[in-house]
Amino acid sequence: MKILVLNGSPKREKSDTMHITRAFLDGMKEAAPQEVHIVNIIDKQIEYCTGCFTCKRNGGECIHNDDIRELLGKLLASDLLLFSYPLYCYGMPAPMKAFADRTMPLSSMAMKKQDDRYVHVGQADFSHLRYMMICGCGFPNSNLNFEPAVMQFKLMFPNNHTIITVPENPMFNAPEATAVTVPRLELVKLAGKQYAETGKIDDDLLAEICSPMIPEDVYATICNEKK
Ligand SMILES: Cc1cc2nc3c(=O)[nH]c(=O)nc-3n(C[C@H](O)[C@H](O)[C@H](O)COP(=O)(O)O)c2cc1C
Repeated sequence: MKILVLNGSPKREKSDTMHITRAFLDGMKEAAPQEVHIVNIIDKQIEYCTGCFTCKRNGGECIHNDDIRELLGKLLASDLLLFSYPLYCYGMPAPMKAFADRTMPLSSMAMKKQDDRYVHVGQADFSHLRYMMICGCGFPNSNLNFEPAVMQFKLMFPNNHTIITVPENPMFNAPEATAVTVPRLELVKLAGKQYAETGKIDDDLLAEICSPMIPEDVYATICNEKK
């Protein structure tokens, strides 16, 4: 499978979230060989969308000549788009949002009704794509935290999506936390293997991966003592 990993953390490979993503990819590779291409979004020249809609009217040509052209080509040539990013202000980090906005050329100005809502009609074929979101956050739990990011992802990619959200994410970069992070990453690896084999992750496994690794109040106390 051709996997395009879009790493939205400005910390590049030092990203807390990328620990989860790498474990997931390791699991996928255990099931079958995978062709993985990792892009650090922060290193790409991605101008802000100006909202001119030129791309929606002229068959997909954006007015900007930057790295998006190459990235959209890579995106369409992939089987799986894996968005790996930290939760920033309940959403995606700004560089990743700039990338998401610049996928505008993939659809035209025309609108169609899909169930109860309207979506733009595609002007590229992305029916083959599967979408994965791996998002970590700094708070002790997920309550009233991941909801906007998860909803945004589901609305952007209504079909073929799988979502992993992990609280207490900075622990993945803390050597003193390996007693809990290593077993958690083993579960993530198992999820990656399952996903490669079946296209899905077992509900119970997913719920365990998305749960806090240590009691919420203990994590909060440790964070508060460190500040
Ligand atoms: C600008 C900014 C906004 C953040 N917003 C949230 C937030 O809304 N909820 C949360 O739980 N953590 C928030 N965090 C914490 C990060 O999600 C957390 O540190 C994460 O582990 C960073 O992952 P990374 O190393 O992959 O970039 C925020 C951090 C920054 C720098």
